[in-house]
Amino acid sequence: MNIKKLIKTTKKPEIYTPGTAMMWTDEHISTQLLETHLSQDTDLASRREGTISSTVQWILEQVPGEGLNILDLGCGPGLYAERLARAGHRVTGMDVSANSLSYAKKSAQSNKLAVSYLQQDYLELTAENSYDLILLIFTDFGVLVPEQRTHLLNKIYRALKPGGTFLFDVLNHNGAVTTTAAKDWELSLKGFWRDSPYLALSESFYYEEEQVSLNQHTIIDEDGGREVYRFWIHTFSQNDLAVLLSAAGFRTTACSDGVLPDSELYGSEAVTFCLASK
Ligand SMILES: C[S@@+](CC[C@H](N)C(=O)[O-])C[C@H]1O[C@@H](n2cnc3c(N)ncnc32)[C@H](O)[C@@H]1O
Repeated sequence: MNIKKLIKTTKKPEIYTPGTAMMWTDEHISTQLLETHLSQDTDLASRREGTISSTVQWILEQVPGEGLNILDLGCGPGLYAERLARAGHRVTGMDVSANSLSYAKKSAQSNKLAVSYLQQDYLELTAENSYDLILLIFTDFGVLVPEQRTHLLNKIYRALKPGGTFLFDVLNHNGAVTTTAAKDWELSLKGFWRDSPYLALSESFYYEEEQVSLNQHTIIDEDGGREVYRFWIHTFSQNDLAVLLSAAGFRTTACSDGVLPDSELYGSEAVTFCLASK
């Protein structure tokens, strides 16, 4: 192992330097993630079922209507999509993870629900004037870097019908992590990151000026191969959201805190749900 190279790889990068690999599409990691999505012991990857059901109920109260055409971006294993289909809506789920979609399709089939699933990067959304409601749930808006955020908002605006709604959740400043966490390491024969021996070096960094935090995981395989996974975390005030959404053309925005119960990840007041109308 070249230690000098390793030191260079693991130090704090320039803000928004991309990682070398994506976690969601990795064959092994996505299998681990599916278990996490479905686990009722944690709110990681997807929230627990009770929270998802109450969130869907809340969404349906905010956006009343029958037979709505709904697009769930980053739908994962379809936990929201199925509940919305059960409520009588026409639902499409979009995700990059073949593994989650394979589970979602089988589940919809066995539950006799007509949900459509598309394996696609939502940053390449091409629909126009098609949806009454577009969802992006689990604070995923906040992991996008600013350029991707603007790009996605423009695409979502185009994909909505006039009068349609974009509904998403973000971490607000109550959920901000402004400190650099201690370095952490894991040496395993197999585990979350690989099904073969690996060393994981994890660290998080805070970028004071931009108020952005980064969780960085460097994974070193037995043969010395190395990948870096980076997760940028942004928090938003209601005013930040209003500015971003209005720049993309949205007419009105309404934000609510306290939609979720407290979880092991953050308190109820740390997540803001936002509705933006075209
Ligand atoms: C934190 S999970 C949330 C899943 C689901 N929304 C939920 O709350 O149960 C994020 C999901 O977004 C998907 N994803 C991440 N980046 C994506 C992209 N660029 N295009 C499509 N899906 C993406 C991942 O595969 C994963 O299923």
